[in-house]
Amino acid sequence: MNVLGIETSCDETAAAVVAGGRAILSNVVFSQTAIHGPYGGVVPELAARHHLRALPGLIEEARQQTTLGWEGIGAVAATRGPGLAGALLVGLTAGKALALRLGVPFVAVNHLEAHLYSVFLAPGAPAFADACPLAALVVSGGHTALVRAEQPGHYRLLGRTLDDAAGEAFDKGAQLLGLGYPGGPAVERAAAGGDPRGLALPRAPTLDAADTGGLDPALCFSFSGLKTALRYALRARPPADAPDVRDAAASYQEAIVAALERGVGRALDRAPVRTLVAAGGVVLNRRLRDGLQRLADGRGVRLLMPEPACCGDNAAMVAGAAGAGLGLGGAAAWTLDVCPTLSLGDANAS
Ligand code: KG4
Ligand code: ZN
Repeated sequence: MNVLGIETSCDETAAAVVAGGRAILSNVVFSQTAIHGPYGGVVPELAARHHLRALPGLIEEARQQTTLGWEGIGAVAATRGPGLAGALLVGLTAGKALALRLGVPFVAVNHLEAHLYSVFLAPGAPAFADACPLAALVVSGGHTALVRAEQPGHYRLLGRTLDDAAGEAFDKGAQLLGLGYPGGPAVERAAAGGDPRGLALPRAPTLDAADTGGLDPALCFSFSGLKTALRYALRARPPADAPDVRDAAASYQEAIVAALERGVGRALDRAPVRTLVAAGGVVLNRRLRDGLQRLADGRGVRLLMPEPACCGDNAAMVAGAAGAGLGLGGAAAWTLDVCPTLSLGDANAS
């Protein structure tokens, strides 16, 4: 079945058509980076307004890039959460309206499940069921979570960040380093010429079980202290002694990636899996990709990562997940509201 997917959870407006949960027929993304850049972060109200403006044209473009007429669309899927409430509302409402108009089912998709599913859209990837049991690291600007799946659609949250997401840490660090927004690519570029031991930054802190809400503290993350450490490291010295920006960027990147590697390594050691999945915008980072590959190779686990076009927020992962039978469909889907705090594998997830 051909599913038209819609994604508007944050600052990317996206529409895509995916056949049979696997084959991407179109995948259009309008990034609002230039709109939010001057503010150093996403402005929720601006994001919602620009989704509203851009989405109709993107949906039309996503369909036109396929050879399909509207009658070729068998279902419509949209992101229900987590994300910014106003932004989510635009996509979810548009998805329901379009499905109603076309007379096809509507499927509400969890954004984190869609990120996880994005790896199964890559050429040569196994089917989700064949990759299980799996451990997944979802790392983006808004989320950092470690999840285990015994089978598709059944998740257990293993760990998460207690404060900033990994992508957010990159973004905030980039701002401190004067590298602009979004920070991840900027830090990675600056780090390319730097020494990852050039600036002493603290290792990931040991977390307290009292703060992790029942999750194993060894599988949780905290990045806000790292950002503060960078701020003080930059501030403490007279300008002549200021650390080289490239060294600082490389050291900061190294600290974030090492923390992620440590959590993933522990998750793999705690319970065996067939597959390690890494998804989300931060997986564009070469140092992280290489580190996770080493981890997986060392344990004889297959590593699946999305194609670059499916790492950041996109709608192919939404349409793909729905086409694979994930998400909430049926009669209940029509009355679902957005859920800005939706998680994956938590007791409150659905
Ligand atoms: O998945 P995504 O597009 O949006 C969210 O769902 O948040 O992820 C965006 C995040 C941003 O924080 C951005 O700085 C980060 O991914 N990012 C990177 C890289 N490219 C994007 N972080 C590290 N290295 C990169 N090359
Ligand atoms: Zn995302």
